[in-house]
Parts: sequence; structure tokens; C-alpha cells
Amino acid sequence: MELADLDDLLARRHSCRAFRPDPVPRADIERILSSARRVPSWCNAQPWQVVVTSGDETDRFRTALLHEAATGAHAPDLPFPTSYSGVYQQRRRTCGWALYEAVGVEKGDRAGSAREMMKNFALFGAPHCAIVSSPAELGSYGALDCGGFVTAFTLAAQALGIATIPQAAVASYSPFLHRHFGIPDDRLVLCAISFGYADPDHPANAFRTDRAELDEFVDWRG
Ligand SMILES: Cc1cc2nc3c(=O)[nH]c(=O)nc-3n(C[C@H](O)[C@H](O)[C@H](O)COP(=O)(O)O)c2cc1C
Repeated sequence: MELADLDDLLARRHSCRAFRPDPVPRADIERILSSARRVPSWCNAQPWQVVVTSGDETDRFRTALLHEAATGAHAPDLPFPTSYSGVYQQRRRTCGWALYEAVGVEKGDRAGSAREMMKNFALFGAPHCAIVSSPAELGSYGALDCGGFVTAFTLAAQALGIATIPQAAVASYSPFLHRHFGIPDDRLVLCAISFGYADPDHPANAFRTDRAELDEFVDWRG
């Protein structure tokens, strides 16, 4: 594989916020997981464990998660960012506004933005969801390793024409996730990845995010 092929894959991947209901064949899900597990991890601990839902299990999870989001308390295993300031705040706003503009939510329309946010808990209509957890004892480095796994999962899926979205929002309700899936308490639920085939005509899939130039994040020495 040439770097140009990898660049092409990276450029084509985007976070999908509207899926078609068609299931992904089990063999393709296994190929994605087999590829993603090749990422490096500290001491090769491979700390990721993944619950993958399909069919009725996804629908049962979706229904229960929507109920939890409407009634439960925000209680992630991994603390959410305390704030986004400066350039991080700017970038966060830019991608939020791009989504709202695409789906026709005006600035200041709190009900509209809340409606969009709630779609996280409907898994954006995806037929599958992967819940990623890491052993608590591995701390932040376990989470770092799992971040690589999540990225590789999204790229491997993209290579098969399968759309994905990593979702920290789902991890807001970690106690519920532990109960629902029987995830042991000595593991941290980090995020979900909803996946399936994109609905290409949905406005939520019509925008793309950009990236900072190298001189904004590289400090060359020597
Ligand atoms: C760890 C992680 C958590 C994320 N959580 C959410 C989420 O809860 N809801 C959501 O709509 N997007 C979520 N995203 C998607 C990001 O918003 C998205 O990756 C970013 O805006 C860049 O856009 P792109 O993925 O289309 O390139 C998450 C991405 C990552 C890597």
C-alpha cells in the first residue's frame, strides 16, 4: 500500500450521522476487528474489549439507551473534558455549526441542537454498535491504546465501504452500559462506535470537517 492509498482512506473517512438499516455481514465485521487489532499498544497489552451488537440486540440497546438518556444521570467512567478553550473551543464550535447548518438548525435554536444531540442515543440509526472498554488498572495509557484501536476500526471499515462514528456521548451513561452488557466494573467504558452503511442523501452526512496546518501543531527542533 502506498501512502497515497492511506491518505485516500483517511480523506474518505468521516463521521457518519445517518445510517441505512441494512446489516453488515458478520464476515466483514470480523475483518474490521482483525485489522484494527494490529495497532500498537504499550507492552502489547491490547487492552481493548469490544461488545458488538447486531439486529435485535442493537434495537434493544438503542431503546434502552434512549430511555437512559432521557431519565438517567451523566456518569461517564472516563471524565469528560472539563472545558474547551482557545483554538479547541473554536474548532469544536466550527464542527458543531457545520452539522447544524447541514441539518437546518439555526444558531441559538436550543431545542433543535438538543434534538440533534439526542440522535447520538438512537445511534444515528446504525444497525451495529461497538462498545469499547479498557482495564481500569491500565489508566490513561489503556485509553490511549484503545484510541488507536478506534481509529483503525474506522479506517478498516471505510476500506470496506462501511461508515462509522466514534461516540463518547454514549459513554455518558457508563453505569447503564455496565449493567446492560455485563461489562465488569474493573473496566472503563471509553466510547461506542456506531457503524453500518451511510445514508448518502441525509443532510447530516453532507458536511466535512477540516484540519489545522502543520505549523499550527508542530514544534520543529533542529
Ligand atoms: C473519541 C471520539 C469521540 C467522539 N464522540 C462523538 C459523539 O459523541 N457524537 C458525535 O456526534 N461525534 C463524536 N465524535 C466524532 C467527532 O465529532 C469527529 O471525529 C470530528 O468532528 C471530526 O470529524 P470527522 O470524524 O468527520 O473527520 C467523536 C470522535 C472521537 C474520536
